[in-house]
Amino acid sequence: MKIKGNTFIVTGGGSGLGLSAAQELLRLGANVVVIDLKNDGKSFFKGQEKNVLFVTADITSEKEIVKAIQQTIEKFGENIRGVVNCGGVMVIGKIVGSDGKPLDLDTFKFGINVNLIGTFNVCRLVAAQMIKQKPLEEGERGVMVNISSIAYQDGQAGQISYAASKGGVASMTLPMTRDLAKFGIRVVAIAPGIFGTPMSLTVKSERVRQKLLSQIEYPARLGKSDGEFNKLVAHLIENTYMNGVVVRIDAGAKLGKL
Ligand SMILES: NC(=O)c1ccc[n+]([C@@H]2O[C@H](COP(=O)([O-])OP(=O)(O)OC[C@H]3O[C@@H](n4cnc5c(N)ncnc54)[C@H](O)[C@@H]3O)[C@@H](O)[C@H]2O)c1
Repeated sequence: MKIKGNTFIVTGGGSGLGLSAAQELLRLGANVVVIDLKNDGKSFFKGQEKNVLFVTADITSEKEIVKAIQQTIEKFGENIRGVVNCGGVMVIGKIVGSDGKPLDLDTFKFGINVNLIGTFNVCRLVAAQMIKQKPLEEGERGVMVNISSIAYQDGQAGQISYAASKGGVASMTLPMTRDLAKFGIRVVAIAPGIFGTPMSLTVKSERVRQKLLSQIEYPARLGKSDGEFNKLVAHLIENTYMNGVVVRIDAGAKLGKL
């Protein structure tokens, strides 16, 4: 899928990985619709208003995402050629806490609701729009890039809700690919390792930080959202033969016991 001149939606685009992905797509000449729950990310797109639409919306809401898609069409025309689903939350909590109490079900549900159901909600609503669009070369109509996490395979203690939600994002890649192949829509997922974003900076314990870094092979540092993650997003959009796959970007890290 060509990036230049096409329209892409980036959820969670007001911060971290989503912000870098949105900025990369803009640099490459796309129109970008940033969907985020928080309005403060809007300031990162000052001066780019011609090619950016910032929509404050919740990815778990049908009504708000339908409205965001309508606004996209009003500003940039009916062809939405891609969606990059970076909207997500970190949820921490062990199945049974140190106080002996089972994890609160609402805490577990929160991770599943935002990371898995929110991602699916955006995909299904964008897909319904994409199938109506004119196909491009080789019948391609659109591409979806969903953000899982290496926690889908290497979930650590305290990550039960998060890992389950990211496992869901990874597992729906293939059935979604199969459902949408006949419309020329590709679906891929990225499973990032540890990137330097506001989310990963929530790890406050120096011991845990050092332990995490020690589990990265080479280069043993945090990944760069700008220069590493965003380049992979652009590649997956541009390379038509990438489909139905979950790509780890983690410098060889295999997260183990903390
Ligand atoms: N940073 C990492 O190391 C890392 C590693 C693996 C996976 N990920 C995943 O990458 C994605 C982006 O993470 P990040 O590190 O950039 O985090 P971040 O906190 O910097 O950005 C996440 C963005 O998603 C938005 N968001 C949260 N809930 C939303 C909702 N209901 N509707 C709309 N927007 C919502 C937030 O407002 C925020 O702007 C997440 O799905 C995260 O799980 C991050």
